[in-house]
Amino acid sequence: MKTTLTEIAPEIYRISTYIPEAGPHGFTFNQFLVVAEEPLLFHTGLRATFDCVAGAIEQVMPISRLRWIGFGHYEADECGAMNEFLSRAPHASVAHGHLGVMLSIFDQCDREPRALKNNEVLDLGGKRMRRLETPHVPHGWDAGLFFEETTKTLFAGDLFTIGGEYEAQTESDLMERAIAFETAMPGTALTPQTQPTIERLAELQPRTLALMHNATWSGDGSIALRELAKWYGARLSSLV
Ligand SMILES: [Fe+2]
Ligand SMILES: [Fe+2]
Repeated sequence: MKTTLTEIAPEIYRISTYIPEAGPHGFTFNQFLVVAEEPLLFHTGLRATFDCVAGAIEQVMPISRLRWIGFGHYEADECGAMNEFLSRAPHASVAHGHLGVMLSIFDQCDREPRALKNNEVLDLGGKRMRRLETPHVPHGWDAGLFFEETTKTLFAGDLFTIGGEYEAQTESDLMERAIAFETAMPGTALTPQTQPTIERLAELQPRTLALMHNATWSGDGSIALRELAKWYGARLSSLV
């Protein structure tokens, strides 16, 4: 396994591990470290990648400084290693959406989690993480995302997922490869809410999309998200 560290916005680091054995062409798993008075890690990664991710964090700051652990939804690559991180960071707590805490995290988390309401801002001191509930987008009833307001970075989780290995950052078009991957491996729970939920994210006008399984993208995020939303809308119409 190979883990790389890239600063994608001021004091926001992408930690990326490529696993060649995952899927037909390998698969890349990204976590994001938001450094502030109360640092937050978005996605923990799998338990199997804990040592790699912890080592990358240590290049930036002592892991014991972590205060918050966030993720999109309850799934192994999103939060599999949360208890490993809690054991190394004595002041850290998981911060997840209210529904997700009620469904799974209250039981799965070794330390009492913080349950966030839709639109609630977690003020990290220097960075502001707004939690947005996005049920079933891209999958999981508890799904939600964070928007960091000072840098206009949307931590967009599994949206625009592709397989393989690629550069850390890009400004080139996301749609073609993401659509090809989604068509081959339809991981999104396609419902009447998919298009309007992604359109709601577009209203945030993000400048950076920090993606879990793709390069971090810079540009007019509202255009990219509206394009994706429209594609899901058309796909749903073609199926019903
Ligand atoms: Fe997922
Ligand atoms: Fe994921």
